[in-house]
Amino acid sequence: MGLLEGKVGLVTGAGSGLGRATCVLAAEEGSKVVVADIDEAGGKQTVAAVEAAGGEALFVSTDVSDPAQVRAMVEATLSQFGALDWASNNAVGGAGGFCPLHETDDDTWRRTMNVTLDGVFYCLREEIPVMLERGGGSIVNIITSSVTKGEAMLASYISAKGGVDALTRTAASEYSGRGIRINSVAPGGMRTPAIARYFERFPEHEKRTVAQHALRRVAEPIEVAQAVIWLASDRASFITGECVFADGGINVNSHML
Ligand SMILES: NC(=O)c1ccc[n+]([C@@H]2O[C@H](COP(=O)([O-])OP(=O)(O)OC[C@H]3O[C@@H](n4cnc5c(N)ncnc54)[C@H](O)[C@@H]3O)[C@@H](O)[C@H]2O)c1
Repeated sequence: MGLLEGKVGLVTGAGSGLGRATCVLAAEEGSKVVVADIDEAGGKQTVAAVEAAGGEALFVSTDVSDPAQVRAMVEATLSQFGALDWASNNAVGGAGGFCPLHETDDDTWRRTMNVTLDGVFYCLREEIPVMLERGGGSIVNIITSSVTKGEAMLASYISAKGGVDALTRTAASEYSGRGIRINSVAPGGMRTPAIARYFERFPEHEKRTVAQHALRRVAEPIEVAQAVIWLASDRASFITGECVFADGGINVNSHML
């Protein structure tokens, strides 16, 4: 029996990278899944990947920075599958390129906050009432291991993720007593398409990034998805308000080796 047998889940930013890996693994573990993304082509590829794994998925075109679209996403989940047991709020956007803080323009800052922080708030606001009505659920927000230390040239992105970290713990403090566990996963470097393209362009950055991880490599998306699915499942039944660092040891100091 799979970890999510008979459940229904929802993943935002599911048209690529970690979101896609989460959907496919969820299907392998027995869950139906809603694939939500602003990118229709990517979302449909994820649906195809879920179906190839023997699962059932519905693509819902969603911009998480738009509260009305987020509401419609949760309504579509209920009308297609009649339930929402777990969700992973994973979409990221607007961060732009690497940029010094004092050169970060208003549009980059606002768009990053709109998608990456406000988007998670809008998702929680719609997901939680449905789970309250069903008597429980599990939500996994995706942050980054850099929230603990900061990261140069990424002021808007890291600030948004720090907000999601705080929001996760706050939401857990409000709703865990009513059956909803709310946690986060903090990836380190992960070989998703955007990062792979970036490494191809700047091979010296790949070496530096790899060296920061005690495991001396970045993750494949599936390795992080495994943490997401575990937290979403009943196997993590006593865990709430926590962050699982799926980061290959980026926070232990191995730089002298
Ligand atoms: N890749 C890494 O090295 C890394 C490291 C740490 C944390 N993370 C986090 O992991 C998560 C997944 O990252 P990834 O590398 O798979 O990203 P990705 O860029 O491959 O995928 C992000 C998805 O979000 C979608 N998206 C963008 N704006 C959206 C919006 N407004 N509404 C809905 N969807 C939208 C994109 O279309 C895309 O499909 C993100 O939260 C990211 O911050 C990634």
